[in-house]
Amino acid sequence: MGGISILCLVLVILCLGNAEVIDEDKRALLDFAETLPHFHGLNWNESYSVCGRWIGVACNEDRTRVIGLRLPGVGFSGEMPVNTISRLSALQVLSLRSNEISGSFPSDFTSLKNLSMLFLEFNNFSGPLPTDFSVWEHLTVLNLSHNHFNGSIPRSLSRLTQLESLNLAHNMLSGEIPDLGLPNLEELDLSQNNLTGVVPKSLEKFPDSSFAGNGVRSVDSSLMQSDLSPLPRASSKKERDRWKDTWFLAVVIGCGALGLLAFAFLCCACCCSRRKDDDGFTGKFPKGSMSPEKELSGAQDTKNGLVFFEGCNYAFDLEDLLRASAEVLGKGTFGMSYKAILEDANVVVVKRLKEVSAGKREFEQQMDLIGSIRHENVVALRAYYYSKDEKLMVNDYCSLSASALLHGQKGEDRIPLDWGTRLRIAVGAARGIAHIHSKNGGKFVHGNIRSSNIFLNSCQYGCVSDFGLAAVMSPLAPPISRAAGYRAPEVSDTRKATQASDVYSFGVCLLELLTGKSPVHATGGDELIHLVRWVHSVVREEWTAEVFDLELLRYPHVEEEMVEMLQIALNCVARVPDQRPKMPDLLRMIEDVRHSLAEIQPDIGYTASCVA
Ligand SMILES: *[C@@H]1O[C@H](CO)[C@@H](O)[C@H](O)[C@H]1NC(C)=O
Ligand SMILES: *[C@@H]1O[C@H](CO)[C@@H](O)[C@H](O)[C@H]1NC(C)=O
Ligand SMILES: *[C@@H]1O[C@H](CO)[C@@H](O)[C@H](O)[C@H]1NC(C)=O
Ligand SMILES: *[C@@H]1O[C@H](CO)[C@@H](O)[C@H](O)[C@H]1NC(C)=O
Ligand SMILES: *[C@@H]1O[C@H](CO)[C@@H](O)[C@H](O)[C@H]1NC(C)=O
Ligand SMILES: *[C@@H]1O[C@H](CO)[C@@H](O)[C@H](O)[C@H]1NC(C)=O
Repeated sequence: MGGISILCLVLVILCLGNAEVIDEDKRALLDFAETLPHFHGLNWNESYSVCGRWIGVACNEDRTRVIGLRLPGVGFSGEMPVNTISRLSALQVLSLRSNEISGSFPSDFTSLKNLSMLFLEFNNFSGPLPTDFSVWEHLTVLNLSHNHFNGSIPRSLSRLTQLESLNLAHNMLSGEIPDLGLPNLEELDLSQNNLTGVVPKSLEKFPDSSFAGNGVRSVDSSLMQSDLSPLPRASSKKERDRWKDTWFLAVVIGCGALGLLAFAFLCCACCCSRRKDDDGFTGKFPKGSMSPEKELSGAQDTKNGLVFFEGCNYAFDLEDLLRASAEVLGKGTFGMSYKAILEDANVVVVKRLKEVSAGKREFEQQMDLIGSIRHENVVALRAYYYSKDEKLMVNDYCSLSASALLHGQKGEDRIPLDWGTRLRIAVGAARGIAHIHSKNGGKFVHGNIRSSNIFLNSCQYGCVSDFGLAAVMSPLAPPISRAAGYRAPEVSDTRKATQASDVYSFGVCLLELLTGKSPVHATGGDELIHLVRWVHSVVREEWTAEVFDLELLRYPHVEEEMVEMLQIALNCVARVPDQRPKMPDLLRMIEDVRHSLAEIQPDIGYTASCVA
């Protein structure tokens, strides 16, 4: 007993200790945000957990320290307040890029000893650079470009042996470039300053463009001038190398994304080793090649390859996705889905699309269309990624699909799915699909309606996902047998989804909700039965009650509603497309099944904001 209570006490003390540290970090962040004016709202509410919900803040695994702060484009203006950010002593990534912060380089940043990436580009900083860079010995990426820094490039930069990327472009730096060494430097940009002299030996491997817009001579160009050689051969080779690097980077990013998402090693072994001979690729992921943040506001941001949509509250990028722990959710019609838990506890679904036949432009246009759809009954697309080797979509995460609720847990542990919930799933999904059909001039098609693509939103109503993808997919891709039960008869021939075929698929989902049976199921023997055919056969013999899920028969007074819904569902699965109802009419019919929707009380998680 005594031992246990001492253990508990120790744990309590440890927890309190940690809470105090994270509270100090929280205070430092609040002090910063309160002192420095900004336009865009930060949701830094003291009653939320810093590590869970604060925009732009990332914590370590035990949520005891803030290790990342990414606040690009928040509209900060004025001088950097002292003794605020500098108190976040565990900080590893700091991005304040694309703001209007002025004054000199914050001298108290010297206390950020664990800083690995610093992004201050596109601000209004001025004055000299810090003289002693050796305090940031872990620095791998330093981007101070597009400011008004003046004076010379400090020699102490050569102490940053881990530095992979250095960008001081578009400042007012003068004097000669010191011979920096920097064995790990992969990217260098000193262009558009007022530097003079000759490119030092250790930096000769970088292309001329790294030094453009200065009074700097490269050895090549001085030779060229004296020889009057017509073709600057040396520099064109450098250009070629650079080209190769960029291309190589794309491959590596592609592979990296792949790797995250499933089989990091397998993939990189198979898809990069082929290029190994060309590039001398060592298998190391070039961290510095992407800036790990994105605008919090404004239009799409295409940095890092991930394209975000407006109104996206997530502050993550490809690199965060790479670091996130991922869990396979399942194989969908168009590829694998993964649940990725980001560093800041946000959860997203990443879909890896297979068999994309659309070109980049066409793909982007379709993604723009999909991403523009925002509705409480439609799962939002937050970002996408397109490269030759990899096409990704990043969606909000919803926990349970209608399919999982209906067919998931069997046996004694099963929680029956009551009629009220089923009705809410139907109403919500119908609202979502009707909204989708109203887009693109009333021509948009969902194309993949099935119970595993209908989820419960926070109000416990149906919410549809995975739409609009058929347009970018190869029509020659082998049909997925599990989708067969949802496919309208005419689509088997034409292979082209329409709004009428969406209505058919939705009708199958309604039948699933009513019968509790999968769209293709076995009966007794080995024979596979299509749900639509089975329902028709039972209803024709006038055993209507036999159709319904046994689970539903325990709820009194709902049979009338169920019969009404069955009529609607059978209308939807009419063989002839023209005989099926249009989505707006269908929605009205479904909403009328229960005359007052307010009666469909959600049984769990009901909140006042969720009025039907
Ligand atoms: C913080 O959140 C609480 C609870 O959600 C809310 O009542 C309060 O108004 C919020 N405060 C600010 C400053 O937004
Ligand atoms: C800095 O990083 C090192 C190694 O990653 C770690 O041991 C140390 O605790 C960190 N310092 C702070 C203040 O978090
Ligand atoms: C940037 O700083 C300069 C002085 O260094 C000042 O004149 C200018 O107004 C500042 N610009 C903004 C947008 O703050
Ligand atoms: C840097 O700019 C400041 C004004 O912003 C000026 O006072 C100072 O002399 C400049 N230093 C150099 C080395 O040009
Ligand atoms: C660049 O430096 C030269 C002298 O080194 C100076 O005369 C000139 O004004 C500087 N230009 C700018 C734009 O700072
Ligand atoms: C540094 O910032 C510039 C300007 O935004 C950008 O072009 C460059 O890619 C950045 N460098 C790194 C390594 O992020």
